[in-house]
Amino acid sequence: MNELQKAVELLNNGELVAFPTETVYGLGADAANTKAVEKIFEAKKRPVDHPVIIHVYDLEQLSDWVNTDFLSEQYKIFAQQFWPGPLTLIFNAKSSVPKMITGGQDTIGIRMPSHPIARELLKQFGKPIAAPSANRFGKISPTKASHVKEELGESVKLILDGGDCPCGIESTIIDITKDIPVILRPGPLDIETLKKMTGIQVIYSYFNKKSDINHPRVSGSLPSHYAPNTFVELIELKDFDPTAFGKNNLDGIAVMSFQVKPNNFSRDATWVTMPENPVYYAKVLYATLRELDKQHFTTIYIESPPDLPLWQAIRDRLMRAAAKNER
Ligand code: TXA
Ligand code: MG
Repeated sequence: MNELQKAVELLNNGELVAFPTETVYGLGADAANTKAVEKIFEAKKRPVDHPVIIHVYDLEQLSDWVNTDFLSEQYKIFAQQFWPGPLTLIFNAKSSVPKMITGGQDTIGIRMPSHPIARELLKQFGKPIAAPSANRFGKISPTKASHVKEELGESVKLILDGGDCPCGIESTIIDITKDIPVILRPGPLDIETLKKMTGIQVIYSYFNKKSDINHPRVSGSLPSHYAPNTFVELIELKDFDPTAFGKNNLDGIAVMSFQVKPNNFSRDATWVTMPENPVYYAKVLYATLRELDKQHFTTIYIESPPDLPLWQAIRDRLMRAAAKNER
């Protein structure tokens, strides 16, 4: 029996399987098996009122989950343009959908992943797979199989190893139950691309002001998702002075910057030069944060990317990482 067949058997037996998607690794369970979905919450230590995304192989699989009485015309356009791909759509849920999936709301998040291993798993399993990111609640999402192992250990019976996830950050989430679709979570598909390829107006639901990069949204109430344990400080592009790190004796710190390491940079600190292209930046972001987090620096200083549509998803994740441990 190969790994994929084992995965299908485990899912059929109500067990959890971690698998790669084009965004991040998911922790999968048979979406129709409430006991199996319950195990996801236990493994992640996730509060039960958090909804879970359902992953489907094709559009036919939507019918048991989506209330088609309210299906918008926009759905077809988004699905046609971006599925399979890194887009989650929020639909009105059928009343039969378990609360454990919807988090007690009347909506459901669905996505059709494009990663070949995810697709093959969905195809062979033949039913939708419920899968949040395969990390402990509130931690950084895994982009390598080894990250899943580190985070969840024995609670996941099998990890399908697909190498590094190509996008590296979680899918874009759009709520299409409203007249104007709303981006609930920015992701690999940016607002300009979404508008251009659908001709549909899309708006952000989240606070996104340039001046707030150091004082993120609704102070104190920002969900500290995607957070490393180390204190993270974002420094706005215009305030970022690479030579400043050499002037003070800042041992035990790490810096993630677009620039190269200054000559006078402390030997006991770590400087990581990040890609200037948002696609490549996203790919390495979580792995970089994870590596730095392991080294127990006092602070990780991050040069903030520019406030441009292509960087919104990364800025969102960085703001959340920094929001966790506001001092
Ligand atoms: O890229 C991804 O979307 C990854 C891969 C594994 O597919 N999955 C993922 O799942 O990021 P998770 O559970 O870590 O994040 C799902 C997000 C949560 O913030 C949740 O609140 C939101 O989707 N969500 C799910 N269902 C929703 C609903 N019905 N209404 C509003 N938000 C929903
Ligand atoms: Mg997650």
